[in-house]
Amino acid sequence: MSLLLDEIAVATSRLAEAGVESPRADAELIAAHVHGVARGTLHTVPDAAFDPRYWDEIARRASREPLQHITGLAYFRYLELEVGPGVFVPRPETEVMTGWAIEALGAIDVAEPVVADLGTGSGAIALAIAQEVPSSRVHAVEADPLARQWAERNIARCAVAAPHTAGRVTLHDGDFASALGDLDGAVDLVISNPPYIPVGSWVPPEVGEYDPATALWGGSDGLDAIRVIERTARRLLRGGGVVAVEHGSPQGAAVWGVFPEDLGWRDTSCHRDLSGRDRFVSARRDWKDEQS
Ligand SMILES: C[S@@+](CC[C@H](N)C(=O)[O-])C[C@H]1O[C@@H](n2cnc3c(N)ncnc32)[C@H](O)[C@@H]1O
Repeated sequence: MSLLLDEIAVATSRLAEAGVESPRADAELIAAHVHGVARGTLHTVPDAAFDPRYWDEIARRASREPLQHITGLAYFRYLELEVGPGVFVPRPETEVMTGWAIEALGAIDVAEPVVADLGTGSGAIALAIAQEVPSSRVHAVEADPLARQWAERNIARCAVAAPHTAGRVTLHDGDFASALGDLDGAVDLVISNPPYIPVGSWVPPEVGEYDPATALWGGSDGLDAIRVIERTARRLLRGGGVVAVEHGSPQGAAVWGVFPEDLGWRDTSCHRDLSGRDRFVSARRDWKDEQS
């Protein structure tokens, strides 16, 4: 054993007592961050190189500050994104919906598909699509100025790390309801991970105290923003275009009902996340209703 591995074992117990969900992984990832090494090489850090600031960062995590705020980074599909106070930390559930959208874009016969990401936050969905569908043009809409600053930073960061994303993501200051008026009827895919938690629901401290309130709460049933996004997607999409909207696991049937045939939606489908829970709904805009 090394000093660092001993300290990690103690830190793991401390994080477990504080109610952290994955104490061992977090203790190791914080150690790797503080010592500037990969997680897999922690055992090679010499005792003399142990950095006591490790315990300051463990104290932050024990107070339930998110791991990603401590390291300053979040991983989303093939991207490394900067995150911190004022922006929603992207989640693995959203990677599944984004993967579905990337496959849907690969299947359409359009040279440069136009995508709208409503409520882009850190820019995670928009940038992943730009990275994995290099021909796409992505419009990322965000109402919160602080979140927009993080998105701007990540767009610039990805332009260096994944140069083909440069110039493909356009960030807009806008609202779900009125976003992208000049693209009405011209969008191939609308995607959104909107605020969808019913007001009054319990959330863990990492969420309630650190994710911005504008990213979380969706009215009394959690569907307020999703209803607005349905109207906006109906306006933005061309006939045959698709929408994908994330929701909470108990909301699958209710969100399915927000995209009914009589509003011009076809193939409305519920999709599950990696743990088998309902997580997003997709629907296709009817060709006949293109001009309605
Ligand atoms: C749950 S977060 C998702 C962020 C990012 N898309 C992701 O998946 O990590 C929802 C985002 O929608 C933004 N938002 C909330 N209400 C909005 C509105 N009316 N118009 C535009 N953006 C809004 C929030 O500021 C937040 O960044």
